[in-house]
Amino acid sequence: MSRVIVAPSILSADFSRIEAEVRKMEPAGAKFIHLDVMDGKFVPATTFGPDLVAKIASSAGAMIKDTHLMVEDPASLIKPFAQAGSDLITVHYESFSTDEERFACIRLIRSLGLLAGMSVKPATPAEVLLPFLPELDLVLIMSVEPGKGGQAFMPEALTKIRLIRENIAKTHRKIYLEVDGGINALTAEACVEAGADTLVAGSYLYGHEDYAQRLAGLLRL
Ligand code: DX5
Ligand code: ZN
Repeated sequence: MSRVIVAPSILSADFSRIEAEVRKMEPAGAKFIHLDVMDGKFVPATTFGPDLVAKIASSAGAMIKDTHLMVEDPASLIKPFAQAGSDLITVHYESFSTDEERFACIRLIRSLGLLAGMSVKPATPAEVLLPFLPELDLVLIMSVEPGKGGQAFMPEALTKIRLIRENIAKTHRKIYLEVDGGINALTAEACVEAGADTLVAGSYLYGHEDYAQRLAGLLRL
């Protein structure tokens, strides 16, 4: 079994046949399916809401529905996404003004039986996440500015991955360390070497005939 988890991001999928686009990733070896929710405020673009998660639920099979909330008010969306079938919800550190609100949101996600993740944008130091590690199931390091697919990987993310990996080791808990943005065979290798175990890949996989070979290549890292 691969030590790496691949999370295809449907942002680059063909939405006119989204169910088939989701379904094809599990046989190719994906354990997560990454769902990018944007509200037009936290980031300029708007994508989809809980309805889409409910729609793809039966196509996702056993893949973890990994929901990445790039929104201004994540707390109000936790219950709707949980009801729609999200298995894991990642919120942004930057979406909140106080640590009290951040802890409350993590606890809400976990109280609903879901896994909880927290993410930092490129300009936010990864150190801000350390107080939350004891209660997190996943840390998501953004290696591009959130908002759209197809951007170039920012190598500064590697330093953050190393720091979080060291601190995850100290917790003796299972915490996924996910990286999102600009992932391809080359950048993925650097991320895994730095300590990432979960790779989000959008434009590297979707839109390519040989997506299954590409995914298999990531699983071999
Ligand atoms: C960007 C999203 C990513 C995006 C990645 O805001 O969070 O998940 O789909 O796209 P690629 O893999 O093309 O950089
Ligand atoms: Zn994402």
